Amino acid sequence: MNFKKEIAKLSEKNSELENPEFAEKQHKKGKLSARERINLLFDPETFVELDLFVESRFSRFGMDRKRVPGDAVVSGFGKINNRQVYVYSQDFAKMGGSLGEMHGKKIVKVIELARKTGSPIIGIIDSGGARIQEGISSLDSYAAIFNSMIKASGVIPQISVVVGPSAGGASYAPGLSDFVFMVNGISQMYITGPEVIKSVTGEEISFDKLGGAAVHSVKSGCCHLVFNNEEDCFNGVKKLLSYLPQNNLEDPPRQKSIFSEFFEKENYALLKIVPEEEEKGYDMREVIFEIFDRNSFLEIQPGFAPSVVVGFVRLAGNVVGIVANQTKFMAGTLDINSSDKVARFVRFCDAFNIPLINLVDTPGYLPGADQEHQGIIRHGAKVLYAFSEATVPKLSLILRKAFGGAYIALASRYLGYDKVISWVSAQIAVMGPAQAVKIICKKELAESKDPKRMEKEKIKELEEFFLNPYQAAKLGQVDMIINPKDTTSVLTKCLESLLDKKEEKILRKHGNIPL
Ligand code: HXC
Repeated sequence: MNFKKEIAKLSEKNSELENPEFAEKQHKKGKLSARERINLLFDPETFVELDLFVESRFSRFGMDRKRVPGDAVVSGFGKINNRQVYVYSQDFAKMGGSLGEMHGKKIVKVIELARKTGSPIIGIIDSGGARIQEGISSLDSYAAIFNSMIKASGVIPQISVVVGPSAGGASYAPGLSDFVFMVNGISQMYITGPEVIKSVTGEEISFDKLGGAAVHSVKSGCCHLVFNNEEDCFNGVKKLLSYLPQNNLEDPPRQKSIFSEFFEKENYALLKIVPEEEEKGYDMREVIFEIFDRNSFLEIQPGFAPSVVVGFVRLAGNVVGIVANQTKFMAGTLDINSSDKVARFVRFCDAFNIPLINLVDTPGYLPGADQEHQGIIRHGAKVLYAFSEATVPKLSLILRKAFGGAYIALASRYLGYDKVISWVSAQIAVMGPAQAVKIICKKELAESKDPKRMEKEKIKELEEFFLNPYQAAKLGQVDMIINPKDTTSVLTKCLESLLDKKEEKILRKHGNIPL
């Protein structure tokens, strides 16, 4: 063995991987190269690459193809804010980042290492999908990736960053991830592209209108966060990671905070944000800003199903998951899409030991034939299932309305909430008094000489009796009725009291969440 000669050979091979031509190809498309992306994500000098010399078997068999060292994907591990993370980054400049047998094996290797070491996995996706030349081997490789992702689900956080096409099979890696990031203008995700759609259905549509960032973050709900450029996008990934534990056996990272500051804090601004007129909407994000640690809110899926707000926030330094009604949109009702958004977020928080706090102000599930026909029963059941199944600390704060099914799902102790706190302004009822009178006073109203006056009187009666938090408090269903100014202090004390909560999951193969 001639060490000098072999070392020279190795560095020659390594430099072959760094051919600037490939990066140049990406830059021309307004995108970064696979390695530039990794450099943006990881702490300097921490990334260790694996499988540099992997090549496709098909290139060795001389199928009229150039050799592609690394097989169009860079994979390995490194540190992000000093915590270990595994990554793979597809290289579109090489064979369109398409996924063949060995490309897929490299990805499976890092997903499995991430699972075994309890480290998050990030997939950077820029790919034309299954490598056509490798036939069924490409499809099998996708199957292997999905299998390993599904086994890692709920064990480690899985993040997909789509920064180019994510075509065909490539789109199911994001589809199976906990969080999907996209960049306006360069990201497109679809099962079949515009050309296939045109040939099958005759429909003409652009790549962006079919599967661009705006479509997936607003309409389909397949994307969680959108950015205008790759640098902001990778900073967004790092920010998300700062709220997450490494794996399901760890707690989320706690940030130091000065406790007394929070206990003494009184939120007088809340009374200005939430209008006294109950029919008026307001921005729940302002309420969140006021109650929780300053600037700590990271909203997830802000553009999709906007009648609910979900996201991560800190309270006295502790990470919590927020589920809140957004009264600015459809009065904060739960519809099909918002039910899906809530259920998936709650299950993520539960899997990764993140306590939940609900901020409730909603007249209930959205009524309407369209919602019924699309399966609001099936979708709404997901919300019930996810909250009930969750064993993390669960707090519910009712600000104004908690009516009907939404009260059951978001605030009933019998569904498993550990503490239910109510502002003095809370209204807890089966339904609004105007609707209730029409049902329970139907006969009386029909027989009345002055039904309009009677209806008004009955509504007032019901309002006085039901529209307050005291009926629920008398039954022990509301633990505390508080002055809104004390919200931060009460929530902090309640949360801290529950951080060591232990609740066993029911032993079974798995439940059967309505899907
Ligand atoms: C092999 C591929 C490829 C693929 C792209 N390339 N996709 N090679 N298999 N799936 C190669 C191209 O031949 C080209 O090689 C290089 O990558 C760059 O591709 P371009 O087409 O020149 O790039 P661009 O114009 O930017 O278009 C990108 C694209 C287009 C829109 C993604 O390449 C495309 O439509 N690809 C096919 C997408 C697709 O239908 N995938 C589904 C596969 S089936 P050269 O050598 O010329 O540079 C699948 C099965 C699972 O995934 C389905 C489950 C639902």
